This record gives sequence, structure tokens and C-alpha cells, in this order.
Amino acid sequence: MTAPLVTRLSKADAASVADAARVLAAGGLVAFPTETVYGLGADATDGRAVARLYQAKGRPAFNPLIAHVADLNAAQALGRFDADATRLAAAFWPGPLTLVLAKAAHCPVAELATAGLDTIAVRVPNHKVARDILRAFGKPVVAPSANRSGHLSPTTADHVLADLGGRIDLIVDGGATPVGIESTIVACLGEPVLLRPGGLPRAAIERTLARKLTDPPAAGTDDAPLAPGMLASHYAPRTPLRLNARRVEAGEALLAFGPTPAEGAGRAKSMLNLSERGDLIEAAANLFSQLRALDAAGAGAIAVMPIPADGLGEAINDRLARAAAPR
Ligand code: TXA
Ligand code: MG
Repeated sequence: MTAPLVTRLSKADAASVADAARVLAAGGLVAFPTETVYGLGADATDGRAVARLYQAKGRPAFNPLIAHVADLNAAQALGRFDADATRLAAAFWPGPLTLVLAKAAHCPVAELATAGLDTIAVRVPNHKVARDILRAFGKPVVAPSANRSGHLSPTTADHVLADLGGRIDLIVDGGATPVGIESTIVACLGEPVLLRPGGLPRAAIERTLARKLTDPPAAGTDDAPLAPGMLASHYAPRTPLRLNARRVEAGEALLAFGPTPAEGAGRAKSMLNLSERGDLIEAAANLFSQLRALDAAGAGAIAVMPIPADGLGEAINDRLARAAAPR
């Protein structure tokens, strides 16, 4: 575990908004109100900040996160809007609606934040404090609900302090959140699919689109996300993974961890190290981008060195096990 932080609690005003933008720019964690629930924000483009966020939440797995932006223009730099998405954004943003879109070509969001997926969840919150912080920061902010994994979503700053005090840098107190439940999530990747019911009623969405929303095949929860058939629920490389590898076999690429080289590392077709220092935050930040790079190396398999199971190691091992599962 990392050393506890001193969590500052500030009333929302111009000074605390500027403070929030500074903390985000430095890779820190800021809880702030949205119209739905309090979010725990990190710089979406900074993989290490995103890794710290997962650590603070104590999530045993890397669920993809929602990127929050100040307006439609900023959202269009992250995801590709089809006709349905364009209509929904025009009707309901800012507001309690999250759109899952195909990632835009030069999307700057860290691979860890989307858990290596080719899709991205985006929303423009309708709350003055959230939008002021997003504008002041000027970059996308990933923000899951500001609670520890398995706990209830917080609707007041006091809830956040009770749950995350000592684990995050700053809480901006903007009073109780008006909606009180999370945003409705709709995937616009073809037929629109309702991935999570939430603060925006389904009927309003169906009226705007003049059609019914498809339901995902399997129900999900916040900590065990939906696995809708048409959406890849987790990142999977084409090259088979061989986990807990202590030596490299002929024709393999190597995903290393830590300072001690694997046996036969010299014969790896390609090698990357998640963290030479053995730092799990650095390893999490590198995980999906390095898997992608090694997947492109044309190796027969990717040998993955053992990763410790403590801290973020649990989530890293969870994702590796899923990526290694036969399909
Ligand atoms: O109201 C809200 O949406 C709040 C506030 C803070 O904005 N945020 C929130 O985030 O509820 P979180 O992380 O607790 O829930 C995000 C949900 C998860 O169930 C996740 O699996 C899903 O969004 N999600 C994110 N990216 C996705 C993607 N690319 N495809 C499918 N589902 C995705
Ligand atoms: Mg949540």
C-alpha cells in the first residue's frame, strides 16, 4: 500500500476550481460533484494518474471509465458520433447520459482508462462545478463514482470523505447532487443498446431516436460490468498469452516485470517491461499499450512474467487472465 494522503475538503468556488485543475494536471485525484453522483476524477490522458485512481477505489479489476468533457466539441475528439449519438448528444447534453462510441482516431485517452477497448464512454455533465473544473483543466477527466469498490455511490462530499479520505488529494464540495443515481449509458455502435439504466429515463431516449433501445444480453453491475454480446467486454490480443512465464521459449515475445530478467530473454522476438522498478502503478499504466505493441510483433505467443498479486497487481492479473482465456 502507498502512504496515506492528506485529503483536503474545499467548498466549491473559483479558488477550489483552480486548485482542482492544478491537482489534476499534477496527476492527482479530485472528487467533484456532477448532477448524478460525486465522481473521482483523474487526468484521462495520464496512464499513471488513472492507475492511481483504480488503486484509490480498490477495484479488483480494471473496468473501463467514463471520460468527462465540458462540451460536444471536446467529446468529438474522443469518440466517433454516428447519427444516433449526434441526436442524443444534441437532445441531452449536458446531462445524465453517457454514450459509448468507437474511439476517435487520435483519441488522447490512456489505454488503461478504456481497459484497452476500441470503444470509449463519454459524457458532458450538467453541473456547474463539474463543468467549471473541466473547462479550467482543459483535458478529459475520467471519473467513476467517488466510492470504494463495492460501496454505494456518494451524493454528498461527506460520503466521499468517509469512503475515500486519506486516499485522494482533494474533494470539492458542491452540495448534494440533484439526480442521485448514475448516468444512463447507451452504446451507439450500430443498433443503440441500453447498457445501464440511470438518471435519464429510457422513454426519453426512445422518443428522441423514434425507436426502441436494445437491451444487452447479460445484466451487469458497477463492479462487474456489462458484457453485451456485440461489445468486446475486455481487451484480448490476437497472439496467445502464456502467463507466469519464467523463461522465454523460441518464437515468443516477452512482457517482463521487474529488474530480474527472464531466462532466455535474449531470444525474445520483442520485449517490453511493464515496470523495471517493479512498481505496480507504472505497470498498470503500461499494461494495455504494451500488450498491443507486443501483439503486433508477429510472435507465436507472448510470455508474461509473474506479477505480484498485491495492490494493483490483483487487477493486472485479472485482466491478463481474461486476455489469456481461449476464445
Ligand atoms: O453518473 C455517472 O456516470 C458517474 C458520474 C461520476 O459521472 N460515473 C459513473 O462511473 O457511474 P462508473 O465508473 O462508476 O461507471 C461507469 C460504467 C461502468 O459500468 C463501465 O463498465 C461502463 O461505464 N463503461 C465505461 N466504458 C465502457 C465501454 N467502453 N463499453 C461499455 N461500458 C463501458
Ligand atoms: Mg460506480
